Amino acid sequence: MDMYKKLNEDPKYKKLQDKYRALDFIDEESYKKIHTKHLVPLNIVIDSDLFELEIQKYHGDFTYWGIGREKNEGRIRHGLGLTDLNEPLPFDPPSNPITTPLDKWMYKYPDYPLFDADFSKINSYFKGLNSLEEYLKLFYNYHMRSCILWWNGGHGFVPHIDTDVPAPQIRLWGTNDPEHYVFNFWNGKEYVREENIERGRLYLCDTSIMHEAHSTAKNVYTFFFSLHPDSYDLVKEHIL
Ligand SMILES: [Fe+2]
Repeated sequence: MDMYKKLNEDPKYKKLQDKYRALDFIDEESYKKIHTKHLVPLNIVIDSDLFELEIQKYHGDFTYWGIGREKNEGRIRHGLGLTDLNEPLPFDPPSNPITTPLDKWMYKYPDYPLFDADFSKINSYFKGLNSLEEYLKLFYNYHMRSCILWWNGGHGFVPHIDTDVPAPQIRLWGTNDPEHYVFNFWNGKEYVREENIERGRLYLCDTSIMHEAHSTAKNVYTFFFSLHPDSYDLVKEHIL
């Protein structure tokens, strides 16, 4: 059985399966109504000049993104959690869960399944970034697992899907450097690069479609925000 089949079906992962079913979801019709393309622009733009300056003071706090295997493949990517776990774990994990792909986390720790909804405490990094302040004020109460990803050179993500539909979160996405951020979605035959991405603009991102991404320069950041399904109407109001 592959990892996903095991996570979904193996009784070893019953805790995860039960916890997933108890999450709040956006139903399929509502999901499709707002995800009209891969990246739907919102009327929110982050001041990327300011962001690039102020994120530097946190560079030392970024943690390796992943759970081990990728390290051997030379893809040492980093992330900074902007939200913290609602409940601390009863053990000290070797990798920071906020910067670990959660499917891999749950595969390794069947007794401690974590979903985006488990990370909804806005932390001091989020509050300390003035470039994110206006955005944060708008969606303050709806945040779930949210991060900044930091890529240098060829860093990125291999092809994957983040969510099933109905979806237990709304995912917002953006970057400071669209020219050097290659973001590809699978169209059924091949990967096609997203065009006309604006620097700093936030987009509603359809992560139910297979996608991959990588950077072609240093200091390419991703704004990676997960919102609770209750933010649906508010997100809709901000679609351009
Ligand atoms: Fe993704």
